[in-house]
Amino acid sequence: MAANNVAMALLLVVVLEVGGVGGQLEVGFYSDSCPDAEDVVTAAVRDAAGNDPTILPALLRLQFHDCFVRGCDASVLIRRASKDTEENNSKNQGLRGQDVVDAAKAQLEDQCPGVVSCADILALAARDAIAMLLTRSSIVQTGGPAFDVPTGRRDGLSSNLRDADALPDAGDPIDLLRSRFAAAGLNDRDLVLLTAAHTVGTTACFFVTDRLYNHRLPNGQRGADPAIPAAFVAELKARCAPGDFNTRLPLDRGSEAAFDDSILRNVKAGLAVIASDAALEDSNATRAVVDAYLGPARRRFRRDFADAMIRMGSIRVITGEDGDGEVREVCSAFNT
Ligand code: HEM
Repeated sequence: MAANNVAMALLLVVVLEVGGVGGQLEVGFYSDSCPDAEDVVTAAVRDAAGNDPTILPALLRLQFHDCFVRGCDASVLIRRASKDTEENNSKNQGLRGQDVVDAAKAQLEDQCPGVVSCADILALAARDAIAMLLTRSSIVQTGGPAFDVPTGRRDGLSSNLRDADALPDAGDPIDLLRSRFAAAGLNDRDLVLLTAAHTVGTTACFFVTDRLYNHRLPNGQRGADPAIPAAFVAELKARCAPGDFNTRLPLDRGSEAAFDDSILRNVKAGLAVIASDAALEDSNATRAVVDAYLGPARRRFRRDFADAMIRMGSIRVITGEDGDGEVREVCSAFNT
């Protein structure tokens, strides 16, 4: 490793610690103990995306849903017949990508048993998914920003249904979104940057129909949120009929295939598809961040998004041999 890289890696460790959202993570944590770990994860993501490119945004969402509940500890991956685990919370409805993590884990257990945590596999898979984001028909390496992921997370020892209530919800007003991010050690800039992950992927009409048919109007009736431009209401109604919960539509209108800042332009223009994206315009603080990334900070968007992903991936991580937690043998169950 060149001296500069060593200095950067050390700086990153220090920044994560001072920032208070992480423990002692480091880039290349497995370089001695399991040198192919990152390549194995990349190959598993690539295989999965070859069959189904929509798995890439799903993996990105999966890491968000892991990190915001008890920290990035793979608690979202626990599956139990009793259905009292995080993944059964309605806020985790439609989560996908767990099987990609499971597949990478199975290979890594063959190569280096008991070494690579599921929480790290998930963080690496999300990173790879961003870099592999899709064009219309093929996977390109340069879709989203590429970045180093600090690793060394351990897997958590609990997963409770109600803990996932802490997850932000599409219907949350901006102050609640801000406070949920603050509770995770993330600020308004992180909120805007990370929400911009919605530059890719799709939403079920389930998360859109309330805005179109069920918004409480001043006259006491229910209808479309008057803050949404009428033409866009008509467009969304044509995609999502009343009671249609399952049809999927792109989160980033007109630019769903590219990893770019168009989601922020859509937010600014009132063309956000889900309410929580539109809400970024509802506070001075978040509106200022949106404006900055559409203006002076525009060129920094990709790099800052990657940095925000690293901060998100550091939320309340468990680290160190003596730390609580374990390295699971399979990602869907605690060790016995
Ligand atoms: C600010 C709070 C957030 C809310 C309320 C929220 C809400 C949602 C909702 C409702 C969906 C549609 C889910 C579905 O129908 O399958 C979605 C999808 C998605 N979210 Fe978020 N999200 C938030 C933040 C984030 C963050 C921080 C990330 C990652 C950094 C993220 C990444 C994604 C991705 C990539 C998808 C598309 C998934 C797919 O196509 O399968 N979201 N989000």
